[in-house]
Formats: sequence, C-alpha cells, structure tokens
Amino acid sequence: MTLADLIPSLRTSLSSRLEPGLWPETARTTCEGQLLVGGVDLAHLAARFGTPVIAFDVTDVRSRCRAYRAALPDVEIAFAGKAFLCKAMARLADQEGLALDVCSGGEVAVAAAGGFPASRMVLHGNVKTDEDLKIAFAAGVGRIVIDSLDEIAALATLAPTRQQVLLRVVPGVDAGTHAGLTTGTEDQKFGLSIATGAAADAVRRVLARPELELVGLHCHLGSQVREVRRYTEAARRMVAFLAEIAREHGVELPQLDIGGGHAVPYAAGENAFDLTYFGRTVPAIVAAECRDAGLEVPRLTVEPGRALVARAGVTVYRVAAVKRGLRRTFVAVDGGMSDNPRPALYGARYPVRRFGRPVRLPSAPVTVVGRHCESSDVLAEDVLLPADVAAGDLLAVPCSGAYHSSLASNYNQTGRPPVVAVASGAAVPMLRRETIEDLLLRDAG
Ligand SMILES: Cc1ncc(COP(=O)(O)O)c(C=O)c1O
Repeated sequence: MTLADLIPSLRTSLSSRLEPGLWPETARTTCEGQLLVGGVDLAHLAARFGTPVIAFDVTDVRSRCRAYRAALPDVEIAFAGKAFLCKAMARLADQEGLALDVCSGGEVAVAAAGGFPASRMVLHGNVKTDEDLKIAFAAGVGRIVIDSLDEIAALATLAPTRQQVLLRVVPGVDAGTHAGLTTGTEDQKFGLSIATGAAADAVRRVLARPELELVGLHCHLGSQVREVRRYTEAARRMVAFLAEIAREHGVELPQLDIGGGHAVPYAAGENAFDLTYFGRTVPAIVAAECRDAGLEVPRLTVEPGRALVARAGVTVYRVAAVKRGLRRTFVAVDGGMSDNPRPALYGARYPVRRFGRPVRLPSAPVTVVGRHCESSDVLAEDVLLPADVAAGDLLAVPCSGAYHSSLASNYNQTGRPPVVAVASGAAVPMLRRETIEDLLLRDAG
C-alpha cells in the first residue's frame, strides 16, 4: 500500500502532476485543470479541431534532434519517417540537418513534396516494388538498402544511373525487446544473414553489378531497445563482417548504418534510452574494432524514429461513456485502435490524464477503451482518473507522436484524426482530419 492509497487527497494532488519524461517539453498544467502544450490550451485545440486530435510539440522534436546531434556529433542522424511523416515533418527534419529513412515510394513522394532533398534519403524495406523503385529513381534517392538477393538484379536493371546501395545484414543480435519489434535475430523476414552466408553471397552479387556502388552495411535490431550493449555487440559483428569483405574482395566499405530502435518511456518510472552513453561508446567501439582489423573507420549512421517524435505527441480524446461494471469501470473515448493500434499490436499501454476542469475528487482506477468493435481496443488499464470522470470530459494520452498517425487506419470507416503542430501559442495543422468525403472518394461504388 502506498502513501497515496492511505491519503486520498495526496492521490489527487499526485495525479495532477505531469509524469516526468512522458509529456512534451512544453507541457504545463494549471490549478484550474488546463493542459497546455506549446502554449496552446488543449481544450481550445479540441474545440477548434474536434476530437480525437493529436497535438504535436515542435519545440520538443527540435530539442530531441539537437540532443542527437550533440551526443553524436560525427554521426549521420537519419530520422525514420515511418514513425511519423508528412510534408511539415519532412521540412522539420531537413531544417534540423537530418537525413531521412524512407520505406516506400509513398514516403519518398511525401518527403520530396515537403522539400526534403532526395539525396539525403535512404530507401529501406524488405519489399520494394518496381513502383517504389521508379519513384525513388525519379526523385534521385541517395542510397538504397538492399534487403534480399532477389532485389539485386531488379535494382541493377532499373537504376537509371549508378546507384549507391547498402546491404541490410542480420547480425544475429537479440534486441531484448517485444518479439513483434525484434528484427536483428536469425529467421525473420528482414535482411541477409551473416550466419547463413546470404550476406556474403549478396556482397559478391552486388560487387559484380557495375550499375550498383556498394557503399556500406546496415542493420536494425528492432524497436524499444533499452540497452546500449545490444548496439555495441551489433557494431562489433558488423565491423567483423566489414573486415571479412575487405579480406575477400579488397574493398573497404565507407559507411556503417546501425539502425534505430532507441527506446522511449511509455510509463512513469520507465528509463529512457541512455543516448549520452550510446554516443560515448558505440562510435568509439566501431573505431577501436576497425583499428584492430586494419580498416578505415566508416562513417556511422543511426536511424531513430520514435526517439525523436514519440514524446512530442499528445492525443486528445473526448469521453463518450462511462460504464461502471462489477469489478471495473470502463471509460470509452471517441477514438481508439484506428488512431492508435499499438495496444492491439503489442499490448502497449498508456498513461491517461483528464483535463479541462479542476480535480476535486480523489482518483479511482479505470480502464480506458476505444470506440471500435474489438475487445483488444484498450488504451489504458488500471489508470487513475478523478472519480467524477464523465461523458464529455477531455482525456490526454502522451507519447502519441510515433507510430500513431503513421499506423492509423480507417477501421469502422472512421476518418483519421488531424495532427496539429503547437508552438509559441499557435496551432497549425500538419495533417487535417480525414472526412467521410475522403473515405467515399476511393469507394468505386
Ligand atoms: C530500418 C529501420 N530503421 C529505423 C527504424 C526506427 O525504429 P524506431 O522508431 O524504433 O527508432 C525502423 C523501425 O521499424 C526500421 O525498420
């Protein structure tokens, strides 16, 4: 039993504190129950844009980008656009001097429409259709990451000029994360295994194609990777493979991309990824291993997605119904798995906060559920909300900036919510709400 359980008033005051590390840098609360992000009152945002709506704190994103550049001054930082991409986000990444990891012709097109230079884009994906490749070539994408043996000939045939490529390699390192977020171990769909010899085969085949210039290796261990030692292990294995390539082919590859996946906290008390330690150790280990192997040190790239944008986003929902059951109280909101499928995909859970009116009663545990026709449509379990939570109240869910908007769907024919940039008291739409008209536009009748 905690002190807060013994003294309900303490519970009330505790619940009105913003959990450190989970909310955007500019988030503030007031005694009247307001919640402001980027100087914008989220109740006003909800009134203007409707709910659900995602507020996106531009200041927070910029400061995360700068933290990465400061911690990794000689390393290329490529924002993984799959976490969240639209024209304004591409512009932001460009302004912050980042490269961009894209994963489809669509991502190339959106980023290019936002003015992001294609030469700083890196195209990934275990499947790249001819359409994806045509869009990438037309835009002039700088580097393409080969993910399978089958891709090599297709790429060489379609490339209009000599194309820089990297090879995605499976280093055989467990990321220590959810199975659905693991991509660096054997027997999964991404990359070419060092252990099976597929990666060495791919090197031979690529070097035999004059249309392709092999500039480096790539690996990505997975997402929500908490421990830096997973990356140091991968870096060692990647340098060993670089050395093998140098021995076999007399070629020293100048680039090494060690992917993204740096964890962010989604719950109070969860540790953030130790970026400073990562910055101090990983480049140093790569340099030391290269020195021992007699190799030139390659330029390093990292590809954070979530770590740059997750914390910037706050989803605002309106409570539609409160049902008090025998054992649980369900608070149902006007969004759910269509705007945030992470709970259904990975069992992710979120903190939730009521705002818009003062907290006068102690908090009680509730389950926050979405509006969709699946019982896995649960946003939060056993979270504390004021006991008088009622239909019409506004709820805020932090950590909504990554893999929410980009993973959203039209399940139950719901329009995807808007994403609104908030900064210096102004609210500027990045993505508008999808309407019924949008849904009907693609319905061929
Ligand atoms: C190749 C690659 N790089 C980077 C990322 C970004 O991962 P995260 O957003 O967890 O940093 C992903 C995510 O799936 C990925 O597949």
